[in-house]
Amino acid sequence: MSDYGQRYAASLMNTFGPPKLVLVKGEGAHVWDVDGNEYVDLLGGIAVNALGHGHPALVEAVTGQLQTLGHVSNFFTTPQQVELAEKLLELLLVGRVASASERIETGGKVFFTNSGTEANEAAFKLTRRTGRTHVVVAEQSFHGRTMGALALTSKEAYRAPFEPLPGDVTFVPFGDSEALAAAVTDATAAVLLEPIQGEAGVNVAPDGYLAAARAIADEHGALLWLDEVQSGMGRTGAWFAHLSSGVTPDIVTVAKGLGGGFPIGACIALGAAGELLQPGNHGTTFGGNPVACAAALAVIRTIEEQQLLDHVTVLGQKLRDGLAADPRVTEVRGEGLLIGLDLVADASGEVAAAALRAGFIVNNATPTRIRLAPPLVLTEDDANAFLAAWPAILDEAMGEQA
Ligand SMILES: Cc1ncc(COP(=O)(O)O)c(C=O)c1O
Repeated sequence: MSDYGQRYAASLMNTFGPPKLVLVKGEGAHVWDVDGNEYVDLLGGIAVNALGHGHPALVEAVTGQLQTLGHVSNFFTTPQQVELAEKLLELLLVGRVASASERIETGGKVFFTNSGTEANEAAFKLTRRTGRTHVVVAEQSFHGRTMGALALTSKEAYRAPFEPLPGDVTFVPFGDSEALAAAVTDATAAVLLEPIQGEAGVNVAPDGYLAAARAIADEHGALLWLDEVQSGMGRTGAWFAHLSSGVTPDIVTVAKGLGGGFPIGACIALGAAGELLQPGNHGTTFGGNPVACAAALAVIRTIEEQQLLDHVTVLGQKLRDGLAADPRVTEVRGEGLLIGLDLVADASGEVAAAALRAGFIVNNATPTRIRLAPPLVLTEDDANAFLAAWPAILDEAMGEQA
């Protein structure tokens, strides 16, 4: 046994509680702890390790870029930064119906950050440049932990110790178009939604909700801002979870899977919204550095070359079907490899612990909800192994209750 647990407790702030494992190695969707035990990683660093662990394309991109040019200030640019911005805009805009909006014709602009919180912070500041301050956000949302992003996050336990937070934020029930329509006014700067709420345990926006949000925002001259930090970059089997809705947002924020484990985020603003932040309005030392951009380009290229979006769609469906087959599971939600399931009882902590003992990493998102967000390269064998182990994991954690 290692003593890292004690040393962690003695030397790191207690913001996350005690770590469940001390991990030392990863390959594909597998990780090993310091004692040599192997696990199938069905959480992927919380929807981050898109290419799994140690993927050669990512390793090569990062090491090659670091050897060539590791960092420049934002007084300069690099080919990687420009190429990534162009690529993200292409992924967002290509394939939409041309007539959908003038936003498409006017393209868009990207601001790079190092995390999802910072992408949202940049977007929040951008919305203030409309001259309005009011933002309408969904209940059960999670947008990050900086004071700005926290102001837009609904969970009381996260907010309360840090109030007063930046104000003028209205929370409405997720998925309720009428409540949204009632909350948005001509003083509203933006409507902010996750197309699939991740931290809440995977709540998928009901059909028509994003289109209604677009219409409501348009009626009042407000921006529609979609937080795809968790749901974006291929996780749902599409490049962005909102694409199937046909809606064109004004702002999309991404991070997590974008760099496949290398920290990078982006605030992407389409059409006129892309011009709202002007020189002096915002900045970052590390955001958009060439190593992070090279990592993201490698992730996107690999997803394209290996046709991982189709793989994610097929494997996600298989996992959802398999997990739903147990009577102790009351509902399975999600798209692609962003999966949430409800248990018949408050036992998600016990289930996650039993899964870990069986060699599988899953997340207990709420007391009744388990979340999976595995690497997009998860193999069918790994998915089968988890489904085979699932009934015994539930037996151990919950017994026969159904
Ligand atoms: C939807 C969403 N937005 C923002 C964030 C914050 O991102 P980060 O932890 O990279 O700051 C998260 C993180 O879980 C998220 O799921």
